[in-house]
Amino acid sequence: MDVPDGPLIPPWYTIPGMSEHLKPGSVVFGYVIERLLGRGGMGTVYLARQQSLNRAVALKILHPHQLRNPAAVEDFLREARATARLNHQHLVTCHDAQADPDKQLYCYSMEYIPGLTVAATMQAEGPMKRSMALHITYQIASALGYAHQHSLVHRDVKPDNIMVNKNGVAKLLDLGLVRDRLDGVGSTSAGKKLMIVGTPEFSAPEQSRNPRLATPASDVYSLGATLYYMLSGRPPHTGETIIDLIVRAATEQVYFPESIPVDCRDLLLLMLARSPDERLPHGAAVVAALEALAQGRAPKLPEKRLQTETSPAEDMVEDEPAGSGASQRRRVRRVRRHR
Ligand SMILES: Nc1ncnc2c1ncn2[C@@H]1O[C@H](COP(=O)(O)OP(=O)(O)O)[C@@H](O)[C@H]1O
Ligand SMILES: [Mg+2]
Repeated sequence: MDVPDGPLIPPWYTIPGMSEHLKPGSVVFGYVIERLLGRGGMGTVYLARQQSLNRAVALKILHPHQLRNPAAVEDFLREARATARLNHQHLVTCHDAQADPDKQLYCYSMEYIPGLTVAATMQAEGPMKRSMALHITYQIASALGYAHQHSLVHRDVKPDNIMVNKNGVAKLLDLGLVRDRLDGVGSTSAGKKLMIVGTPEFSAPEQSRNPRLATPASDVYSLGATLYYMLSGRPPHTGETIIDLIVRAATEQVYFPESIPVDCRDLLLLMLARSPDERLPHGAAVVAALEALAQGRAPKLPEKRLQTETSPAEDMVEDEPAGSGASQRRRVRRVRRHR
């Protein structure tokens, strides 16, 4: 591909109300924009060409409207650093992060994954075959096992954040909500009153109740909800409102429609248990359970549980004093909905 010389940061970038899309040919920090790949709650991702190495990359740019939120930049840079710190075949790789505070431009580049998200594939083709759904689950469970070993909890595993290429290789994206269990580093939105961190249809009950209660077992729940969705075309619980959905997930049994193969149900029950103590505790346990399933054995909880994090006993974490400007600002954080 030719590397065109394009205009530098286009002037619309910080103009409210205008399209936030960069035009093909725009040059951002030495990356030439080719086309839009996707958008999420935090950023827009473009296919771009890195001029210095003449290679294709995916460039994620923080949404300009997120800059109204003072902690968004901090969260975005943490996402880039967490992604860069990890190296696993089923986790997207980060190359570089760049920031220009004067232009209010924050981005990071990562490996380009040619393929579709699980969400996009499902929208186009409907529920997946058992073999494909289990293959994707196995790969993402191994990525989570690796992240959990490094004390990280992803907290936003869902169909939009899993990409699959044409050879069936799956990669987990978007470490925007990642939290370090050991030193408490994580999205600064975590633990604020009435905040939902994650995506309600795919979040474990304890994470919906209090984001600080998210542990590796919460990621297992989200992956279980994603497997349920891949097989049936719907998440395990639905509701008229977010609160209704959260209450149902916390109180109702999982119901299995006919589309969910009988031999996958025990595994799903172990991944979607309401109590984290009755759930497969981490990604590696899901890998072992899937291997058991493949060998015709019943998946079961491991005998020796990895010690899961316990967080402060209170259900809702104390917020800063009401009315404090900082606390008011920080409460306006990312609330993600399944798109
Ligand atoms: N490395 C990548 N290669 C190809 N497409 C990507 C890549 N990363 C993200 N995308 C696309 O961009 C979308 C948004 O990216 P994501 O990191 O999930 O952003 P957000 O944090 O805003 O949710 C994804 O759902 C996917 O369609
Ligand atoms: Mg996303």
